[in-house]
Amino acid sequence: MQWNFQEIHTQAQAEAQAIDSPQAMEVFRLKYLGKKGVVAAVFASLGGALPTDKAAIGKGANDLRSFVEQLISEKSSNVSVPKIFGEQVDTSLPGTGEPLGHTHILTQTMQEIIAVFEGMGFVTIETPEVETEFHNFTGLNIPIDHPSRDAFDTFYLDAEDPSSKGRRLLLRSHTSPGQVRIMKQHKPPMAVIVPGRVYRPDAVDASHSFMFHQVEGLLVDDKAQFSELKGLLTEFCRRFFGPKVIMRFRPHFFPFTEPSAEVDINAEILGIQRKKWLEILGCGMVNPKVFEQVGYPKGKYKGFAFGMGVERMAMLKYGINDIRLFYENDVRFLKQF
Ligand code: DAH
Repeated sequence: MQWNFQEIHTQAQAEAQAIDSPQAMEVFRLKYLGKKGVVAAVFASLGGALPTDKAAIGKGANDLRSFVEQLISEKSSNVSVPKIFGEQVDTSLPGTGEPLGHTHILTQTMQEIIAVFEGMGFVTIETPEVETEFHNFTGLNIPIDHPSRDAFDTFYLDAEDPSSKGRRLLLRSHTSPGQVRIMKQHKPPMAVIVPGRVYRPDAVDASHSFMFHQVEGLLVDDKAQFSELKGLLTEFCRRFFGPKVIMRFRPHFFPFTEPSAEVDINAEILGIQRKKWLEILGCGMVNPKVFEQVGYPKGKYKGFAFGMGVERMAMLKYGINDIRLFYENDVRFLKQF
């Protein structure tokens, strides 16, 4: 049998041009490359061919196969693509993408505070938000029915404390109960920070929220000194607010530390004129009565502790004047940080 390869090529090319669907493509492929297709028929004809024709027929079959494969690959990128409103989709165009979210400013601030202390060797531990009176008060030397409890006004839950009959569980009003929990479970030396949410039944305004965040710090060994606490917090403030920060330690009272202090930073440095000094944290040497409450032997250990409000730190650092902004989830506010 004689093959007119020229004609077959022309025919195949015309058919390929007319392909307009994946189905038509498959029909075309089978017609030429299938088991019973044209290429196979050409090869099959080799058996009965004259010896002088065999080389030309073999070459013709191979060339035809390559030609058809080429037609298919050229066509297939267009044919398999779906059509929308009669238009072809350009799959090479870059996508439009969704707007990316990012870490909330409070989380960022918390992570920044944690990173500074972890860089100084502190370990981060989270403790429960639902607490007992023992951890939130008694263990911290805030006796039951003592007026100092008022300073840490508290949300009580409708649930009895399983460890203390007749007493209700509560939402912790500060992160200091974390100190009590950790000291009950671990022996000194220790250097820990406890970040997390705290709750107080305050009316919401520009500087109050019923829920906010604190980071607590506690270091206990057998020789901790107030001067070390001072050095540590000074270095923390430099790293957090920048090297120019000016701070002062002002004597204060907390039941769980003795002596106690509050730390203020100079507002002018931060570009806030409202007030000269702004309080940023409470601190002091762990009161021996707290060591007693957690069962440490009398006189064996010394320690210091501190606690700071995360919202307050962020407000001072970034010049935010209303605490409610943190919780409203207004993207125009959030995307600035
Ligand atoms: N718990 C205190 C508060 O919420 C802050 C505080 C003061 C924590 C002194 C401390 C500390 O660890 O030593 O106001």
